[in-house]
Amino acid sequence: MSELKAYAVWDAGTRWFHWLNVLCVIGLMAVGLVILFGRDLGISGDGKVLLKTVHTLIGYVFALNLIWRFIWGFLGNQHARWQSIKIKRGFIGTVRQYLASIRAGRPEQYLGHNPLGRLSVVLLFALLATQMVTGLVLAGTDLFFPPLGHWIAQWVAAPGIDPGLLVANAPQMYDSAAYESMREYRKIFGTIHVYGFYTLAVVIVMHIVAVVVTEIRSGSNIISAMFTGHKILSERPQDEQH
Ligand code: HEM
Repeated sequence: MSELKAYAVWDAGTRWFHWLNVLCVIGLMAVGLVILFGRDLGISGDGKVLLKTVHTLIGYVFALNLIWRFIWGFLGNQHARWQSIKIKRGFIGTVRQYLASIRAGRPEQYLGHNPLGRLSVVLLFALLATQMVTGLVLAGTDLFFPPLGHWIAQWVAAPGIDPGLLVANAPQMYDSAAYESMREYRKIFGTIHVYGFYTLAVVIVMHIVAVVVTEIRSGSNIISAMFTGHKILSERPQDEQH
């Protein structure tokens, strides 16, 4: 057997993002599920507004963390950068070669993401960004929360009502025609947010299964590496830079 060697892989910026993101997504999915099935659970009116407010406050932490990660893609170490994440020409060939190495019982080892891992990270980032954008629109159109709430309130406030005082679930404060037309525009964002949630749930399960299987099959410590930052490999990694 080849010698084991430790490599510094995930920098602190990437690790903090990863675990804060995990916590936020768990919180958002849990509260989101209760909102989704609110009617069946007998929650309505003020209870639902409270849940949406809590969900949105977690959503702000989630959004800031995600934006920070997108910036870190230009500043972080080699493995945190977009250059290592983006799908490049010849990617399908790289995936085929990786799958062949798994079938042959000697999976290629990578310092950063293996080709399948890179695919799942791109998919996850796309879904998380979709949830962030649609969530911020929903928070503006439902609760009149920033960054869009200010404009939405000006759009739907009834004559004589100060838009700055508008609150959720208070139809007497809205101009009903403007409110109805705002809700029409909003619909598509709600639909994408819900389907984004279901898709994200499936991709997260796939991500966790893939990580556990890779850990077991390749014998490398990819799970603890997201805590310690270090990967211990027995083979020379495919993406080692000299
Ligand atoms: C991983 C990220 C997220 C997930 C999985 C998620 C999930 C959900 C789910 C399942 C619902 C219930 C949908 C419904 O009943 O129509 C929901 C609603 C909502 N989400 Fe998110 N969400 C995420 C991110 C965000 C963010 C970043 C924000 C804003 C900062 C946000 C704001 C809202 C609002 C305001 C609602 C209430 C919509 C309504 O009026 O029904 N969400 N979310």
